Amino acid sequence: MRGYTISDAISLGQNQLKNISSNYANETLWLLKHCLKTTSSDLLINQSSQIFNYQYKLFLELLNRRVKKEPIQYILESICFYGHDFNINKNVFIPRPETEQCIDILKKYHSYSDSVLEIGSGTGCLPITLSLENLAANIISIDINPQAIIQSKQNAKKFNCHNIIFKHQDFFNMPIERKYNLIISNPPYIPMKDIDSLDIEVKLFDPIEALTDYSDGLKFYKYFSKFGRKLVHKGGVILLEFGGAEQLVDIQKIFNQNNYKHQIFDDLNKDPRFILITI
Ligand SMILES: C[S@@+](CC[C@H](N)C(=O)[O-])C[C@H]1O[C@@H](n2cnc3c(N)ncnc32)[C@H](O)[C@@H]1O
Repeated sequence: MRGYTISDAISLGQNQLKNISSNYANETLWLLKHCLKTTSSDLLINQSSQIFNYQYKLFLELLNRRVKKEPIQYILESICFYGHDFNINKNVFIPRPETEQCIDILKKYHSYSDSVLEIGSGTGCLPITLSLENLAANIISIDINPQAIIQSKQNAKKFNCHNIIFKHQDFFNMPIERKYNLIISNPPYIPMKDIDSLDIEVKLFDPIEALTDYSDGLKFYKYFSKFGRKLVHKGGVILLEFGGAEQLVDIQKIFNQNNYKHQIFDDLNKDPRFILITI
């Protein structure tokens, strides 16, 4: 292989990624700095420097994965959530930026929680951020996906969070034995019938049990409505993410049926996205 420069790699990357991502320029730099273990500014300053053959080969490999639409977060094995860099692997759901707003909603509308249950750990991004932002202690976080529990435990160790217990557990088989001050969840809410029409990046790469409840997308909300008062102390709250305007009427109906006091919050695209239920 002849010697290639940083500039050669940037041109190649940008040309190949142009067709699949509007963010191709940044993605090229992210992939290249990952392979060269350097910073974006170093890359840009030293464009005429040669790179080692093994680094170029690795760059080609990662570029090829991205060209096949694998999400950049799985390739880089990293995702930034609320300013913190979480490790991620391909068996675990990629946290979406809108979920960060859960943290802001709790900061504004609910005080510190000393007993928390999170359903659906994923990378552990929600409970770990609650802990890092000093919003909660004594957190239990469960996931039906054992890989999510392994990844969450790794992230908790990385961030030195000692107040979270991660447990491999199906929520629907979890005995109701105690109450919490806060329940938080971004559950799988896409109706099974809509899975085929999702973007290929989501459909092929995110774990299916993180996307859908294999039913109408409302299974978790119905369960929270049925058992909310058995799971949460009086004065406590349940904060849930849901699938936007399309689900709003159903979600409100589910909680109105059992006379819950609730508030809806929009995401940054002005789509209704969160429900905060006060017990
Ligand atoms: C949309 S992801 C959210 C992950 C993470 N909280 C986030 O916001 O990035 C939903 C998570 O719920 C988990 N899950 C799905 N069904 C479950 C169940 N019955 N019990 C517990 N966890 C479940 C999935 O494995 C997945 O990790």
